[in-house]
Amino acid sequence: MALTDFDLVLFGGSGDLAMRKLLPAMYAREAIKDLPANARILCVGRHEWSTEEFLATVETTSKPHIKNIAQATWDKFIKRITYVSLDASNAKTYGDLVAALRKDSAITRVYYLATPPQLFSLICDNLKANGLATANSRVVLEKPLGRDLASARQINVEVGKVFSESQIYRIDHYLGKETVQNLLALRFGNVLFEPLWRREWISDVQITIAEELGVGNRMGYYDQSGALRDMLQNHLLQLLCIVAMEPPTSIAPDAVRDSKLQVLRSLKRFTPTTLAQNIVRGQYRAGHVNGVAVPSYRDEPDAPEQSRTETFVALKAEIDTWRWAGVPFYLRTGKRMADSLAEIVVRFKQIPHSIFNQPTSSFQPNCLVIRLQPDEGLRMNLMAKTPGDGMRLKPAELELDFKEQFKTPRMDAYERLLLDVLRGQLTLFMRGDELEAAWEWVEPILNNWEQDDSMPIPYAAGTWGPAAASALIGRDGLQWREEALPED
Ligand code: BG6
Repeated sequence: MALTDFDLVLFGGSGDLAMRKLLPAMYAREAIKDLPANARILCVGRHEWSTEEFLATVETTSKPHIKNIAQATWDKFIKRITYVSLDASNAKTYGDLVAALRKDSAITRVYYLATPPQLFSLICDNLKANGLATANSRVVLEKPLGRDLASARQINVEVGKVFSESQIYRIDHYLGKETVQNLLALRFGNVLFEPLWRREWISDVQITIAEELGVGNRMGYYDQSGALRDMLQNHLLQLLCIVAMEPPTSIAPDAVRDSKLQVLRSLKRFTPTTLAQNIVRGQYRAGHVNGVAVPSYRDEPDAPEQSRTETFVALKAEIDTWRWAGVPFYLRTGKRMADSLAEIVVRFKQIPHSIFNQPTSSFQPNCLVIRLQPDEGLRMNLMAKTPGDGMRLKPAELELDFKEQFKTPRMDAYERLLLDVLRGQLTLFMRGDELEAAWEWVEPILNNWEQDDSMPIPYAAGTWGPAAASALIGRDGLQWREEALPED
């Protein structure tokens, strides 16, 4: 669907996200001539800059994030950008924005709030006070969407007073990743998996997002957040929803979101006892990542000396439904891990009986690996006969590499999601009740950690996290995927 004319207003317009992701995403559309002639980008910030001064920053801060830049295209692109100086929390300073926006109701207007969440409701109120919350407007809320259930509810209520639910786009950039959408294609575009996609045939599911990176220059935010709020409450739970949801009736926003909501509401609640048994939190100490020495979390710039913030979390979740009862979902994420990868591993059950001259235990259960990062693809482990005489079965792999298979260029998650906002497609965005259901589930964990004065378990940077994470899954007679792989 072609884009129609728009005014894209970026609050936090001189911030990291705008520079690293949003402006490069829009440039990518310029490069393929997808932007309407009069599409405009208004970057809003507190600095009292002219547009020329702002563009000088864009040149040094955003441009380096764009690969294969063509100068003529870049020159055309930056003509679309206007800088508007205002204090987002003060309604009286919105005059320049009012003047800059086009009044034609046929022009789509998007307010992208890449700001701290405390500003969301203030900005919405101020937009309304200035007559800017029009029917042709959409508002995008960037993560973090609150820090607990109460603050998330408050955001929903306050933003909901100004914009209707169909105008609100809550971003989780993992839903913009190609492989996540491919998981929908795999499950609901083929008959092969759906009949097996249940407790009778699936033994367990592992979802891992591991990063080699540390917290970088985001300590101010991260130390207040931690891995549970930063990654698990949103990205990992969204992936779990896509794996576990019932087939939606269509790809329409509410059909998909109803199915995801059902999963979130069916997650077994933790009690203080089950929580202690099923959750491991860790914090990295000094170590080596890719052969480079890196400091301990507490020695990172601006880290509080006695910080109790977790940089790793692993947990065992269960879904109380007919389809999933008894199937463990192991979720894990961490910073400064041994590798950077994001993957979903669906392990099927062992064959019930061996007709061959080898014991059932020598059959590796079928396993479907859905890779999001770094390479995007699907891998299916099967048992196959080794060539030649006799009948010996060994594990073999079927592999689908998306880059090899489809030569079309891949799209960054933010580019995909921005396009969806501009086209008014809500399917890949969270609805308010979904957001609340996710917070509701993690809240007992947060409360427990707050009351409990124990520390996260230390782990060396460059490893797969605390040994307790292996014990967590080992108790069920299982292993994380990297532990089960044969050594090379
Ligand atoms: C963000 C988190 O939402 O996702 C970061 O705040 C994290 O801490 C990032 O590094 C990971 O995203 P990706 O797309 O690089 O896996």
